[in-house]
Amino acid sequence: MKKIKVKSPANIAFIKYWGQKDKKLILPYNDSFSMNLSNCYTIVELNIHEDKFVQELYIKDYQQKEYVKDKGEALVKVKKFLKTTERFFGRKADFGFKIYSQNSFPKKAGIASSASFFSALALALTLAFGEKLSQKNLSILARLSGSGSACRSVPDGFSWWRRGESSFTSYAFSLAPPSFWDLNDLVLILSKQEKKVPSVEGHLNAPTSPFFKLRLIDIKRRLRLIKKAFLNKDFSLFGLLVEEDCLSMHMVMMTQKPPLFYWSSQTFEIIKKTVTLRKRGVEAYYTIDAGENVHIICQRKDKEKVYDYFINQPEVLEIITNEPTIGTRVI
Ligand code: PMV
Repeated sequence: MKKIKVKSPANIAFIKYWGQKDKKLILPYNDSFSMNLSNCYTIVELNIHEDKFVQELYIKDYQQKEYVKDKGEALVKVKKFLKTTERFFGRKADFGFKIYSQNSFPKKAGIASSASFFSALALALTLAFGEKLSQKNLSILARLSGSGSACRSVPDGFSWWRRGESSFTSYAFSLAPPSFWDLNDLVLILSKQEKKVPSVEGHLNAPTSPFFKLRLIDIKRRLRLIKKAFLNKDFSLFGLLVEEDCLSMHMVMMTQKPPLFYWSSQTFEIIKKTVTLRKRGVEAYYTIDAGENVHIICQRKDKEKVYDYFINQPEVLEIITNEPTIGTRVI
């Protein structure tokens, strides 16, 4: 029995992807830009079986000691992705599998657990098929998993997902390696509950928001500016653009039909507290994905101050501190 073990990070988007132009090919309306997170990752171990009918998935969640056999939902997605992979390589899989997946962070809480899982699985399946893919093509395969942002976990450090016009031109590449800029992402865990509406449903309704078109017009400017701010390491401008994009995406989410509210009252408190912290001279900026937990972006020199401030807030259960890291790898 052959074993393949892959580790892949979650990523936090500074400029976010919301809305799918093509829901089959998972083509986004806009480019997006993210950082891989050193302490939020998934390790996938794929055990290949000769018997094609063995198809099992075991999951060890955040802070769990044992693997638990998945009885449905997640395994269905894995089987669907296996079919996608078969189409990608133009042949049927001649193997069965037992997959063991473990997460270093709570899943489905707005920390991109599907991105880390599916990017890891994309590489594991590629190897199981006996194939070798360039980083570009691996990111395309990860995108086709259904969790589009998985493509951004493949390259190292800071990833740019070019929206593209076709499946072959929509992929992520590394804009800079992890060492380029010592940005930190402190994930403030406010709740460990799983979100109720998966992002895959939310994406489809994005264009029903009257603000969606405005977001797409405005995002061109933001993408141009953030690239410049990033390359010049202008943290003040960078941080403001990160917050602007977060608010723009959540405004669309809250006004699409049916509306999607990922924030809780605690989320809102933390937003206000981040602004207060800044007024006290500590440069920290918030961003939020499809969940109520908040990501605080700061420079490494301010990490302790940011940590000490937030760990003492009643809304915060726990903090996961992250640095930029490499992308999907065999371990
Ligand atoms: O990758 P998906 O399809 O699960 O969508 C995730 C979208 C956001 O996390 C909300 C934004 C982003 O760009 O990561």
